[in-house]
Amino acid sequence: MSYFNRLSDNVYWVGVNDRETELFENLWPLPKGVSYNSYLIVDEKVVLVDTVKADYQEPYLEKIMKLTEGRTIDYLIINHMEPDHSGAIKELIRLFPDMEIVGNKKTTGFLKGFYDIENNIKEINDKETLSIGEKTLKFFITPMVHWPETMMTYIKEDSILFSGDVFGTFGAFNGSIFDDEIDLEFYEDEIMRYYSNIVGKYSPIAAKHISSLGELDIKMIASTHGPIWRDKPEYILDKYLKMSKYEAKKGAVVVYGTMYGNTKRLAEEAAAGLSEAGIEEVKTYDVSKTDKSFLISDIWKYKGIIMASCSYNNELFPPMLALIEALENRGIKNRLFGFIGTYSWSGGSLKRMNQFEKNCNINVIEPKIKNQYGPTENNLKKAYQLGKNTGDKI
Ligand SMILES: [Fe+2]
Ligand SMILES: [Fe+2]
Repeated sequence: MSYFNRLSDNVYWVGVNDRETELFENLWPLPKGVSYNSYLIVDEKVVLVDTVKADYQEPYLEKIMKLTEGRTIDYLIINHMEPDHSGAIKELIRLFPDMEIVGNKKTTGFLKGFYDIENNIKEINDKETLSIGEKTLKFFITPMVHWPETMMTYIKEDSILFSGDVFGTFGAFNGSIFDDEIDLEFYEDEIMRYYSNIVGKYSPIAAKHISSLGELDIKMIASTHGPIWRDKPEYILDKYLKMSKYEAKKGAVVVYGTMYGNTKRLAEEAAAGLSEAGIEEVKTYDVSKTDKSFLISDIWKYKGIIMASCSYNNELFPPMLALIEALENRGIKNRLFGFIGTYSWSGGSLKRMNQFEKNCNINVIEPKIKNQYGPTENNLKKAYQLGKNTGDKI
Protein backbone atom coordinates (compact mmCIF):
# COMPACT_ATOMS: atom_id res chain seq x y z
CA MET A 1 0.00 0.00 0.00
CA SER A 2 1.15 3.44 -0.72
CA TYR A 3 -0.07 6.77 0.52
CA PHE A 4 -2.26 6.97 -2.56
CA ASN A 5 -4.04 3.71 -3.11
CA ARG A 6 -4.58 2.82 -6.73
CA LEU A 7 -7.47 0.60 -7.80
CA SER A 8 -6.37 0.78 -11.43
CA ASP A 9 -4.08 3.06 -13.47
CA ASN A 10 -5.96 6.28 -12.74
CA VAL A 11 -8.52 5.30 -10.11
CA TYR A 12 -7.60 6.10 -6.50
CA TRP A 13 -9.02 5.49 -3.05
CA VAL A 14 -9.13 8.83 -1.24
CA GLY A 15 -11.12 7.73 1.80
CA VAL A 16 -10.40 8.09 5.52
CA ASN A 17 -10.37 5.94 8.63
CA ASP A 18 -12.56 6.82 11.59
CA ARG A 19 -11.30 5.42 14.88
CA GLU A 20 -12.75 8.30 16.90
CA THR A 21 -16.51 7.90 16.58
CA GLU A 22 -17.96 5.74 19.38
CA LEU A 23 -21.29 5.05 17.72
CA PHE A 24 -22.08 4.78 14.00
CA GLU A 25 -25.28 6.75 13.29
CA ASN A 26 -24.97 7.59 17.01
CA LEU A 27 -26.40 4.11 17.61
CA TRP A 28 -24.05 1.25 16.75
CA PRO A 29 -20.73 0.70 18.59
CA LEU A 30 -17.57 0.86 16.50
CA PRO A 31 -14.96 -1.13 18.47
CA LYS A 32 -12.88 -1.57 15.32
CA GLY A 33 -13.68 1.82 13.77
CA VAL A 34 -14.99 2.30 10.24
CA SER A 35 -13.73 3.72 6.97
CA TYR A 36 -15.50 6.21 4.72
CA ASN A 37 -14.42 5.35 1.20
CA SER A 38 -14.33 7.87 -1.60
CA TYR A 39 -12.72 7.38 -5.01
CA LEU A 40 -11.07 9.68 -7.50
CA ILE A 41 -10.88 8.97 -11.23
CA VAL A 42 -8.36 11.11 -13.11
CA ASP A 43 -9.29 10.80 -16.79
CA GLU A 44 -9.94 13.56 -19.37
CA LYS A 45 -12.51 14.53 -16.79
CA VAL A 46 -11.71 14.37 -13.09
CA VAL A 47 -14.41 12.49 -11.25
CA LEU A 48 -14.97 12.01 -7.54
CA VAL A 49 -17.23 9.22 -6.30
CA ASP A 50 -18.91 10.06 -2.97
CA THR A 51 -17.21 12.04 -0.19
CA VAL A 52 -16.60 11.48 3.55
CA LYS A 53 -18.05 12.49 6.93
CA ALA A 54 -17.63 16.24 7.57
CA ASP A 55 -15.21 15.74 10.51
CA TYR A 56 -12.64 14.20 8.14
CA GLN A 57 -12.63 16.85 5.42
CA GLU A 58 -9.13 18.09 6.07
CA PRO A 59 -7.05 14.95 5.36
CA TYR A 60 -9.53 14.02 2.66
CA LEU A 61 -9.28 17.26 0.71
CA GLU A 62 -5.52 17.28 1.12
CA LYS A 63 -5.28 13.95 -0.69
CA ILE A 64 -7.57 15.18 -3.45
CA MET A 65 -5.58 18.39 -3.95
CA LYS A 66 -2.34 16.40 -4.28
CA LEU A 67 -3.80 14.00 -6.83
CA THR A 68 -5.61 16.57 -8.96
CA GLU A 69 -2.48 18.79 -9.20
CA GLY A 70 -4.33 22.01 -9.85
CA ARG A 71 -7.03 20.55 -12.08
CA THR A 72 -10.67 21.04 -11.19
CA ILE A 73 -13.08 18.25 -10.34
CA ASP A 74 -15.56 17.97 -13.20
CA TYR A 75 -18.05 15.57 -11.69
CA LEU A 76 -18.94 14.58 -8.16
CA ILE A 77 -20.99 11.40 -8.24
CA ILE A 78 -23.28 10.95 -5.28
CA ASN A 79 -24.18 7.30 -4.87
CA HIS A 80 -25.60 7.98 -1.41
CA MET A 81 -26.61 11.16 0.41
CA GLU A 82 -26.25 9.95 4.02
CA PRO A 83 -23.98 12.50 5.73
CA ASP A 84 -21.18 9.97 6.36
CA HIS A 85 -20.69 10.20 2.57
CA SER A 86 -22.01 13.62 1.66
CA GLY A 87 -20.33 15.58 4.48
CA ALA A 88 -17.69 17.24 2.28
CA ILE A 89 -19.95 18.38 -0.59
CA LYS A 90 -20.21 22.03 0.46
CA GLU A 91 -16.47 22.41 0.87
CA LEU A 92 -15.86 20.72 -2.49
CA ILE A 93 -18.23 23.17 -4.18
CA ARG A 94 -16.33 26.04 -2.58
CA LEU A 95 -13.02 24.64 -3.88
CA PHE A 96 -14.33 23.58 -7.29
CA PRO A 97 -17.22 25.95 -8.14
CA ASP A 98 -17.74 24.54 -11.65
CA MET A 99 -18.05 20.96 -10.46
CA GLU A 100 -21.26 19.19 -11.54
CA ILE A 101 -23.01 16.95 -9.04
CA VAL A 102 -24.25 13.72 -10.58
CA GLY A 103 -27.23 11.99 -8.99
CA ASN A 104 -30.70 10.73 -9.78
CA LYS A 105 -34.14 12.28 -9.43
CA LYS A 106 -34.29 11.43 -5.72
CA THR A 107 -30.83 12.85 -4.97
CA THR A 108 -32.01 16.37 -5.82
CA GLY A 109 -34.36 16.72 -2.85
CA PHE A 110 -31.66 15.52 -0.46
CA LEU A 111 -29.13 18.00 -1.88
CA LYS A 112 -31.54 20.88 -1.39
CA GLY A 113 -32.76 19.65 2.01
CA PHE A 114 -29.41 18.91 3.60
CA TYR A 115 -27.14 21.49 1.95
CA ASP A 116 -29.35 23.98 0.10
CA ILE A 117 -27.72 22.95 -3.21
CA GLU A 118 -29.82 23.55 -6.32
CA ASN A 119 -27.38 24.37 -9.10
CA ASN A 120 -24.91 22.40 -11.20
CA ILE A 121 -26.79 19.15 -10.74
CA LYS A 122 -26.70 16.56 -13.50
CA GLU A 123 -29.62 14.18 -13.20
CA ILE A 124 -29.04 10.69 -14.62
CA ASN A 125 -31.45 7.81 -15.26
CA ASP A 126 -31.06 4.12 -14.53
CA LYS A 127 -28.47 2.43 -16.82
CA GLU A 128 -27.44 5.78 -18.32
CA THR A 129 -23.78 6.15 -19.28
CA LEU A 130 -21.36 9.05 -19.05
CA SER A 131 -18.09 9.22 -20.97
CA ILE A 132 -15.26 10.81 -19.02
CA GLY A 133 -12.49 10.30 -21.58
CA GLU A 134 -10.96 6.85 -21.84
CA LYS A 135 -13.43 5.50 -19.36
CA THR A 136 -17.20 5.21 -19.41
CA LEU A 137 -19.34 5.29 -16.32
CA LYS A 138 -22.65 3.47 -16.09
CA PHE A 139 -25.19 4.20 -13.36
CA PHE A 140 -27.55 1.78 -11.67
CA ILE A 141 -30.30 3.26 -9.57
CA THR A 142 -30.81 0.98 -6.56
CA PRO A 143 -33.40 2.65 -4.32
CA MET A 144 -33.80 1.62 -0.69
CA VAL A 145 -30.42 0.04 -0.07
CA HIS A 146 -30.70 1.75 2.18
CA TRP A 147 -32.10 5.21 1.37
CA PRO A 148 -34.45 6.14 -1.50
CA GLU A 149 -31.75 7.91 -3.53
CA THR A 150 -29.09 5.19 -3.42
CA MET A 151 -27.39 4.19 -6.65
CA MET A 152 -24.24 2.47 -7.90
CA THR A 153 -21.63 3.53 -10.45
CA TYR A 154 -19.70 1.15 -12.68
CA ILE A 155 -16.55 1.77 -14.75
CA LYS A 156 -17.07 -0.31 -17.87
CA GLU A 157 -13.41 -0.47 -18.97
CA ASP A 158 -12.12 -1.54 -15.54
CA SER A 159 -15.20 -3.52 -14.42
CA ILE A 160 -15.09 -1.69 -11.09
CA LEU A 161 -18.37 -1.28 -9.22
CA PHE A 162 -18.73 1.59 -6.76
CA SER A 163 -21.57 0.12 -4.78
CA GLY A 164 -22.35 2.64 -2.04
CA ASP A 165 -23.23 1.11 1.32
CA VAL A 166 -24.00 -2.28 -0.22
CA PHE A 167 -21.05 -4.68 0.30
CA GLY A 168 -19.78 -2.44 3.10
CA THR A 169 -18.64 -3.36 6.59
CA PHE A 170 -17.57 -1.84 9.89
CA GLY A 171 -13.84 -1.94 10.62
CA ALA A 172 -11.24 0.73 9.78
CA PHE A 173 -8.22 -0.22 7.66
CA ASN A 174 -5.01 -1.47 9.22
CA GLY A 175 -2.68 -0.58 6.41
CA SER A 176 -3.95 -2.10 3.20
CA ILE A 177 -7.38 -1.43 1.71
CA PHE A 178 -7.39 -4.53 -0.54
CA ASP A 179 -8.95 -7.90 0.29
CA ASP A 180 -5.88 -9.88 -0.85
CA GLU A 181 -3.51 -7.98 1.45
CA ILE A 182 -5.44 -8.18 4.71
CA ASP A 183 -6.65 -10.67 7.29
CA LEU A 184 -10.29 -11.11 6.31
CA GLU A 185 -11.09 -12.62 9.69
CA PHE A 186 -10.86 -9.09 11.07
CA TYR A 187 -13.95 -8.23 9.03
CA GLU A 188 -15.84 -11.53 9.12
CA ASP A 189 -18.24 -10.75 11.99
CA GLU A 190 -18.25 -7.01 11.29
CA ILE A 191 -19.66 -7.61 7.79
CA MET A 192 -22.58 -9.45 9.41
CA ARG A 193 -23.05 -6.81 12.13
CA TYR A 194 -22.94 -3.97 9.61
CA TYR A 195 -25.33 -5.69 7.22
CA SER A 196 -27.87 -6.90 9.78
CA ASN A 197 -28.06 -3.60 11.63
CA ILE A 198 -27.73 -1.04 8.85
CA VAL A 199 -29.05 -2.67 5.69
CA GLY A 200 -30.97 -5.67 7.13
CA LYS A 201 -34.38 -4.02 7.07
CA TYR A 202 -34.12 -3.64 3.30
CA SER A 203 -33.16 -7.26 2.69
CA PRO A 204 -35.84 -8.20 0.12
CA ILE A 205 -34.98 -5.21 -2.09
CA ALA A 206 -31.25 -5.70 -1.45
CA ALA A 207 -31.57 -9.33 -2.62
CA LYS A 208 -33.29 -8.12 -5.78
CA HIS A 209 -30.64 -5.50 -6.59
CA ILE A 210 -27.74 -7.84 -5.76
CA SER A 211 -29.20 -10.62 -7.92
CA SER A 212 -29.59 -8.23 -10.84
CA LEU A 213 -25.87 -7.39 -10.61
CA GLY A 214 -25.25 -10.95 -11.76
CA GLU A 215 -25.47 -9.70 -15.36
CA LEU A 216 -22.49 -7.40 -14.85
CA ASP A 217 -18.88 -8.41 -15.27
CA ILE A 218 -17.54 -7.30 -11.89
CA LYS A 219 -13.79 -7.50 -11.34
CA MET A 220 -13.66 -5.18 -8.34
CA ILE A 221 -16.18 -4.06 -5.74
CA ALA A 222 -15.47 -0.75 -4.06
CA SER A 223 -18.10 0.15 -1.47
CA THR A 224 -18.29 3.12 0.87
CA HIS A 225 -17.12 1.20 3.98
CA GLY A 226 -14.38 -1.41 4.31
CA PRO A 227 -12.17 -3.40 1.95
CA ILE A 228 -11.96 -3.14 -1.80
CA TRP A 229 -12.72 -6.57 -3.18
CA ARG A 230 -10.38 -7.08 -6.14
CA ASP A 231 -9.26 -10.64 -5.44
CA LYS A 232 -12.53 -12.20 -4.34
CA PRO A 233 -15.45 -9.96 -5.33
CA GLU A 234 -17.55 -13.14 -5.46
CA TYR A 235 -16.91 -13.68 -1.75
CA ILE A 236 -18.64 -10.47 -0.70
CA LEU A 237 -21.31 -10.81 -3.39
CA ASP A 238 -22.19 -14.29 -2.18
CA LYS A 239 -22.10 -13.30 1.48
CA TYR A 240 -24.36 -10.33 0.88
CA LEU A 241 -26.78 -12.36 -1.20
CA LYS A 242 -27.06 -14.97 1.57
CA MET A 243 -27.54 -12.35 4.28
CA SER A 244 -30.19 -10.56 2.22
CA LYS A 245 -32.06 -13.86 1.83
CA TYR A 246 -31.98 -14.41 5.61
CA GLU A 247 -29.94 -17.60 5.15
CA ALA A 248 -28.61 -18.98 8.43
CA LYS A 249 -25.88 -21.39 9.47
CA LYS A 250 -26.06 -24.28 11.91
CA GLY A 251 -25.84 -22.84 15.39
CA ALA A 252 -27.94 -21.06 17.97
CA VAL A 253 -28.23 -17.94 20.09
CA VAL A 254 -29.60 -18.11 23.61
CA VAL A 255 -30.40 -14.62 24.82
CA TYR A 256 -31.84 -13.93 28.24
CA GLY A 257 -33.14 -10.95 30.18
CA THR A 258 -32.88 -11.40 33.91
CA MET A 259 -32.81 -9.11 36.95
CA TYR A 260 -31.63 -11.51 39.66
CA GLY A 261 -30.49 -14.61 37.76
CA ASN A 262 -33.61 -16.77 37.87
CA THR A 263 -34.39 -16.50 34.15
CA LYS A 264 -30.70 -17.06 33.42
CA ARG A 265 -30.97 -20.55 34.97
CA LEU A 266 -33.74 -21.49 32.53
CA ALA A 267 -31.72 -20.07 29.63
CA GLU A 268 -28.69 -22.12 30.57
CA GLU A 269 -30.76 -25.31 30.62
CA ALA A 270 -31.92 -24.45 27.10
CA ALA A 271 -28.30 -23.95 26.04
CA ALA A 272 -27.39 -27.34 27.52
CA GLY A 273 -30.27 -28.91 25.59
CA LEU A 274 -28.97 -27.39 22.34
CA SER A 275 -25.55 -28.90 23.01
CA GLU A 276 -27.12 -32.25 23.81
CA ALA A 277 -28.70 -32.13 20.35
CA GLY A 278 -25.22 -31.76 18.85
CA ILE A 279 -25.16 -28.02 18.19
CA GLU A 280 -21.58 -26.88 18.69
CA GLU A 281 -21.96 -23.19 18.03
CA VAL A 282 -24.19 -21.96 20.84
CA LYS A 283 -23.80 -18.31 21.87
CA THR A 284 -25.35 -17.37 25.20
CA TYR A 285 -25.90 -13.68 25.92
CA ASP A 286 -27.22 -11.50 28.70
CA VAL A 287 -29.40 -8.98 26.87
CA SER A 288 -28.54 -6.27 29.42
CA LYS A 289 -24.83 -6.66 28.93
CA THR A 290 -24.15 -7.17 25.23
CA ASP A 291 -24.99 -4.35 22.86
CA LYS A 292 -28.04 -5.08 20.73
CA SER A 293 -26.08 -4.77 17.48
CA PHE A 294 -24.01 -7.89 18.32
CA LEU A 295 -27.18 -9.82 19.21
CA ILE A 296 -28.89 -8.85 15.96
CA SER A 297 -25.75 -9.88 14.12
CA ASP A 298 -25.59 -13.37 15.66
CA ILE A 299 -29.34 -13.82 15.22
CA TRP A 300 -28.76 -13.08 11.53
CA LYS A 301 -25.99 -15.65 11.51
CA TYR A 302 -27.59 -18.63 13.24
CA LYS A 303 -30.67 -20.73 12.67
CA GLY A 304 -31.90 -21.19 16.25
CA ILE A 305 -32.78 -18.46 18.75
CA ILE A 306 -34.02 -19.11 22.26
CA MET A 307 -35.28 -16.07 24.11
CA ALA A 308 -35.78 -16.16 27.83
CA SER A 309 -36.99 -13.06 29.57
CA CYS A 310 -38.51 -11.77 32.75
CA SER A 311 -41.30 -9.22 32.87
CA TYR A 312 -41.03 -5.62 33.99
CA ASN A 313 -43.89 -3.25 34.85
CA ASN A 314 -46.39 -5.58 33.22
CA GLU A 315 -44.41 -5.78 29.99
CA LEU A 316 -41.41 -7.54 28.54
CA PHE A 317 -38.07 -6.62 30.17
CA PRO A 318 -37.05 -3.37 28.34
CA PRO A 319 -33.76 -4.48 26.70
CA MET A 320 -35.43 -7.67 25.42
CA LEU A 321 -38.33 -5.57 24.14
CA ALA A 322 -35.83 -3.39 22.26
CA LEU A 323 -34.26 -6.48 20.71
CA ILE A 324 -37.61 -7.92 19.63
CA GLU A 325 -38.67 -4.59 18.13
CA ALA A 326 -35.39 -4.43 16.21
CA LEU A 327 -36.01 -7.94 14.83
CA GLU A 328 -39.59 -7.05 13.86
CA ASN A 329 -38.31 -3.92 12.16
CA ARG A 330 -35.90 -6.05 10.13
CA GLY A 331 -38.54 -8.65 9.23
CA ILE A 332 -36.50 -11.56 10.56
CA LYS A 333 -37.42 -14.92 9.03
CA ASN A 334 -36.17 -18.45 8.27
CA ARG A 335 -35.33 -18.97 11.95
CA LEU A 336 -36.46 -21.34 14.69
CA PHE A 337 -37.42 -19.51 17.87
CA GLY A 338 -37.98 -20.77 21.40
CA PHE A 339 -39.73 -18.68 24.07
CA ILE A 340 -39.30 -18.71 27.82
CA GLY A 341 -41.31 -16.02 29.60
CA THR A 342 -41.01 -15.47 33.33
CA TYR A 343 -42.76 -13.25 35.83
CA SER A 344 -43.31 -12.88 39.56
CA TRP A 345 -46.45 -10.79 39.90
CA SER A 346 -46.96 -8.66 36.81
CA GLY A 347 -46.63 -10.92 33.76
CA GLY A 348 -46.30 -9.63 30.22
CA SER A 349 -43.13 -11.27 28.92
CA LEU A 350 -44.62 -14.26 27.13
CA LYS A 351 -47.52 -12.17 25.88
CA ARG A 352 -45.16 -9.85 23.99
CA MET A 353 -43.18 -12.81 22.61
CA ASN A 354 -46.44 -14.29 21.29
CA GLN A 355 -47.14 -10.95 19.66
CA PHE A 356 -43.70 -11.13 18.01
CA GLU A 357 -44.59 -14.61 16.70
CA LYS A 358 -47.73 -13.18 15.05
CA ASN A 359 -46.09 -9.98 13.77
CA CYS A 360 -43.24 -11.82 12.04
CA ASN A 361 -44.98 -15.11 11.29
CA ILE A 362 -42.01 -16.98 12.75
CA ASN A 363 -41.61 -20.66 13.63
CA VAL A 364 -41.77 -21.25 17.36
CA ILE A 365 -40.60 -24.57 18.76
CA GLU A 366 -42.50 -26.30 21.61
CA PRO A 367 -42.69 -26.15 24.52
CA LYS A 368 -43.32 -22.49 25.20
CA ILE A 369 -42.47 -21.96 28.82
CA LYS A 370 -44.18 -19.68 31.32
CA ASN A 371 -42.59 -19.60 34.75
CA GLN A 372 -43.69 -17.76 37.90
CA TYR A 373 -41.17 -16.79 40.60
CA GLY A 374 -37.94 -18.83 40.68
CA PRO A 375 -37.51 -21.62 38.11
CA THR A 376 -39.48 -24.74 39.00
CA GLU A 377 -37.93 -28.16 38.58
CA ASN A 378 -40.51 -28.95 35.93
CA ASN A 379 -39.72 -25.77 33.96
CA LEU A 380 -35.97 -26.37 34.14
CA LYS A 381 -36.60 -29.76 32.52
CA LYS A 382 -38.87 -28.15 29.94
CA ALA A 383 -36.19 -25.54 29.13
CA TYR A 384 -33.66 -28.30 28.55
CA GLN A 385 -36.21 -30.06 26.32
CA LEU A 386 -36.86 -26.83 24.41
CA GLY A 387 -33.13 -26.55 23.73
CA LYS A 388 -32.98 -30.15 22.60
CA ASN A 389 -36.07 -29.86 20.39
CA THR A 390 -34.68 -26.70 18.78
CA GLY A 391 -31.28 -28.33 18.27
CA ASP A 392 -32.90 -31.38 16.63
CA LYS A 393 -34.66 -29.14 14.11
CA ILE A 394 -31.64 -26.97 13.26
FE1 LIG B 1 -25.87 4.82 4.51
FE1 LIG C 1 -22.51 4.61 4.82
